[in-house]
Amino acid sequence: MSGKRATPLRLGVLASGRGSNLQAIIDAIEAGSLAAQIVVVVSNKQNAQALERARKHGVPAVFLDPKPCAGRPDSRETYDRAILEVLQKYDVELVLLAGYMKIVTPVLINAYQNRMMNIHPSLLPAFPGLDAQKQALEWGVKLAGCTVHFVTEGVDEGPIIIQAAVPVLDEDTPETLALRILEQEHRIYPRAVQLYAEGRLQVEGRCVRVADAASDAARAIRNPA
Ligand code: GRF
Repeated sequence: MSGKRATPLRLGVLASGRGSNLQAIIDAIEAGSLAAQIVVVVSNKQNAQALERARKHGVPAVFLDPKPCAGRPDSRETYDRAILEVLQKYDVELVLLAGYMKIVTPVLINAYQNRMMNIHPSLLPAFPGLDAQKQALEWGVKLAGCTVHFVTEGVDEGPIIIQAAVPVLDEDTPETLALRILEQEHRIYPRAVQLYAEGRLQVEGRCVRVADAASDAARAIRNPA
């Protein structure tokens, strides 16, 4: 996480499904607003749309079958060692979890400490885990949103990089709320990665300081109108 880079930041993306956040990262790179390149996309699901999106943009797309590891006492770690091998083969510098539906183990977390991000569809620390939008509706909160954070061992618990808030409307269903949040996800994830690429993220305990945030949109994005 140091100053100006000579080469684009090398990203590895882990995704299990639709891959709209992956697409947002691809689009930001192609639009020139994100100085990075996706060097590999890995999925635990053979039919993940994320893999198709990667192939369409000429990005190596790797399906790693978790089944051969299943049933072993250290199955998660064994699987993560296989993932790590792929990430290292492609010289990945920053790992992005983008709808990756597996719990990552210390095998990956330690290898990519403060170099692995996740996006979660709630204003953490509220509503970690599955069905965050449904949880938000059930609590009757008036503001929902999304969070990009560094990955640590506690699920959805790592240092928070950027958040964006959206209103919760009376007529919302989990689906309508999810869509409103998703729009903001697509906005903040590329932004968080760009801040990393610029060497502006400093992790201090459980907090992330953004250098020179006052001077640009990094501040405003935390609370979009
Ligand atoms: C997003 O809502 C993300 O926050 C959560 O899983 C969903 C993935 O969507 N972690 P997509 O696969 O990126 O479209």
